[in-house]
Amino acid sequence: MSIRSRKLPVAMRTVGIIGLGYVGLPLAVAFAEEGCEVIAVDVDARKIESIASGASYIEDISSERLRDALDHISASTRYAKLAEAEAVLICVPTPLTANREPDLTPLIDSARELGEVLQAGQLVVLESTTYPGTTRERVAPLLEESGLAAGRDFNLAFSPERVDPGRTDFTLRTTPKVVGGLTDTCTERAVELYGLVCDEIVRVSSPEAAELTKLLENIFRSVNIALVNELAMLTDRMGIDIWEVVDAAATKPYGFMRFEPGPGMGGHCLPVDPFYLSWRAREFDMSTEFIELAGQVNAQMPYHCVAKVQRALNDAGRAVRGSRIAVLGVSYKPGVGDTRESPALKIVELLRDLGAELSYHDPYVPKLNDLELESAPLDEIVADADLALIVTAHPGVDHESVAKRARIVLDLRGVTRSYGVGNVVRL
Ligand SMILES: NC(=O)c1ccc[n+]([C@@H]2O[C@H](COP(=O)([O-])OP(=O)(O)OC[C@H]3O[C@@H](n4cnc5c(N)ncnc54)[C@H](O)[C@@H]3O)[C@@H](O)[C@H]2O)c1
Repeated sequence: MSIRSRKLPVAMRTVGIIGLGYVGLPLAVAFAEEGCEVIAVDVDARKIESIASGASYIEDISSERLRDALDHISASTRYAKLAEAEAVLICVPTPLTANREPDLTPLIDSARELGEVLQAGQLVVLESTTYPGTTRERVAPLLEESGLAAGRDFNLAFSPERVDPGRTDFTLRTTPKVVGGLTDTCTERAVELYGLVCDEIVRVSSPEAAELTKLLENIFRSVNIALVNELAMLTDRMGIDIWEVVDAAATKPYGFMRFEPGPGMGGHCLPVDPFYLSWRAREFDMSTEFIELAGQVNAQMPYHCVAKVQRALNDAGRAVRGSRIAVLGVSYKPGVGDTRESPALKIVELLRDLGAELSYHDPYVPKLNDLELESAPLDEIVADADLALIVTAHPGVDHESVAKRARIVLDLRGVTRSYGVGNVVRL
């Protein structure tokens, strides 16, 4: 099933990319670096201006790397030029509605607009994470409004993006890429295209199998994080150190995979994607209990963390009301500035409701507009705080010196385990 793809000669190939966020911009740069002409489209004019001026807004792509690729990228808010592309990759967001149901608006808008300029012979690949059936049942009909038939006049496939922002040990090139086309020819064309930027391509038999592969990967993480989070809440009551238990279990050389507890799940993927499948499952008279339960447990974590703050302050004879709390790290994971669904935001909100005075330090997030907060210098807020709360442990932040200087530290990430200081409480 898995092949090592042969690197193919690039005779001025043209690749269109719709949606230039965490997924689309790295793909655009990767194809440009292979000598392809990239037609990049986004509805956000600020992103287009930023690309044109060589200023990257994605941590994984340096501005220098973007500028080096710029000769091969033409970015615009207009779809018309996509008619010149040999292949078009759709990388738009797939969020949830307020009722936590799939919101396919960006996907439908982009497929409809692409349908207006679609050409016979083009390959279209959906990369956005979504439920099984989306490519065939939602995207194909919109593209077919062009009068062209999917699988006959143009090729259509699904290939999930596996980018993990901030990760450096695996790249787009070294992470195997799963591809499932509407027909064998659709699959083969997508395999050939991705062979330019990925070393290994994994074929599956249909877009549905590829769509579900991505969801399985994310649900696997969500369920395992929930399991260790639930245990963290239990060990808190039992007086057992969850980190010690995870470390010990992780010494088993087989049959165990390490997952760490934390303040809850964040980002665009894990808190969102599993619910695409549970929504779809209802059409098949199935309720996906693991997904729902994992969602519930992970959503509880910010409340559990706030209860720990209350207890830590209480032990020091203080109430939350009026206490100064310095939050360290507000993005959803280390090394990135993405605050989407970040549990830190929920924790700040809950502590504010209890009357705490909040400040934060995050080298990747200069402002939290909705909470009307700005990142303040680390030394200043730690010196001033009654409690320092490590929510996201960014690289480059000296947590050891924080642990030595702060009155109380509540560490939700286990980074203080080796410090041997007495004023630290951990999740
Ligand atoms: N961020 C990740 O780590 C990651 C990893 C794997 C998969 N994914 C999936 O990839 C997809 C994209 O995620 P992302 O993180 O890159 O999102 P993003 O929000 O960073 O980027 C999406 C871009 O699409 C643009 N857009 C929205 N509607 C559009 C339209 N109609 N036409 C053109 N452009 C439009 C937005 O302006 C934005 O720039 C999602 O389905 C996500 O679940 C994301």
